[in-house]
Amino acid sequence: MNAPVDLRSDTVTRPTAAMRAAMAAAEVGDDQYGEDPTTNALQRRCAELLGQEAAIWLPSGTMANQVALRVLTRPGDEVVAARECHAAWHEAGGSAANAGVQIVEVGSGGVFDVDALDAAIKPSGLPVFPPTTLLQIENTHNRAGGVVVPQAVVERVCVRARERGLKTYLDGARLWNAAVASGRPEAELAAPFDLVGVSFSKGLGAPGGSLLAGPRALIAAADRQRRMLGGAMRQNGIFAAAALHALDRHRERLAEDHHHARLLGEALAGCPGVELDLATVQTNIVVFQLAPGAPDAATLVARARERGVLIVAFGARTVRVVTHLDVATAQVRRAAQVLRELLAA
Ligand SMILES: Cc1ncc(COP(=O)(O)O)c(C=O)c1O
Repeated sequence: MNAPVDLRSDTVTRPTAAMRAAMAAAEVGDDQYGEDPTTNALQRRCAELLGQEAAIWLPSGTMANQVALRVLTRPGDEVVAARECHAAWHEAGGSAANAGVQIVEVGSGGVFDVDALDAAIKPSGLPVFPPTTLLQIENTHNRAGGVVVPQAVVERVCVRARERGLKTYLDGARLWNAAVASGRPEAELAAPFDLVGVSFSKGLGAPGGSLLAGPRALIAAADRQRRMLGGAMRQNGIFAAAALHALDRHRERLAEDHHHARLLGEALAGCPGVELDLATVQTNIVVFQLAPGAPDAATLVARARERGVLIVAFGARTVRVVTHLDVATAQVRRAAQVLRELLAA
């Protein structure tokens, strides 16, 4: 029996032998004293890559998002973000608990424009309204199927946010995918924002870690919040070495994951009962709906598991499939075949 093809997430990857070797060889020190040379090198490298003054390591993308909220807002504030953003749906209510903010979800398909932002910002001058103080964009947008937010839209809404006195935050956990898919450097994608978060543990294949980048003063504030949340680590160079290795070896190959997602998307789009707009398959994620009459998401997930293909139910009739470093073309083709057979049955 073949090993299962695990398409649940790009976070399921295991460090390669070469990555483990880089981790084992990492120079380390106490990062709470700023003495971990490998973490310092990663922070400098990412600040440069993202076109920002400074950067700070964080253990997870969730903590990066939570720290960003605590730096850029005050309790009771309101945040405007794309519908079904990670911060509102996948962080266990952390935005409310950790930052004390409420998130207004707008737009569709991971994207919203200036009109939607304007409509969502609460009027000022009446004390009953919460102050809307932050615009957040998720790029690529996970639950919308890994779509890349068009940069012209990003620039328009960020300009408008600034005019209206809002700060701006980019949840770029998969910014690397957005850069490869759009052909634009990460620094250009990050330029319109006050703070930018990126992850190393998704498509890049590192075992953990994220980072916030921005102006020195905001990164100093983020460091304090990170310490308060218990996210400051010690010999973190072991993780940072994996991230540096991934930046060198696993960034350009994301195009292969995107090609694999396309293969899966094209196979699925032709299946009875599947609702999938192939225009949403832009990177390494495929999110599709199951029409009435087709099996529901839990049933498809269970049947696929029996056939050695692991996928995720994102809703009663919504399924997500994600490609990554640990799945080869032959496995992708096998998974596509299994899903087609199950959906045709
Ligand atoms: C868009 C986005 N932001 C943030 C995160 C959180 O990252 P982590 O799982 O490292 O907490 C994820 C995780 O999948 C994500 O998809």
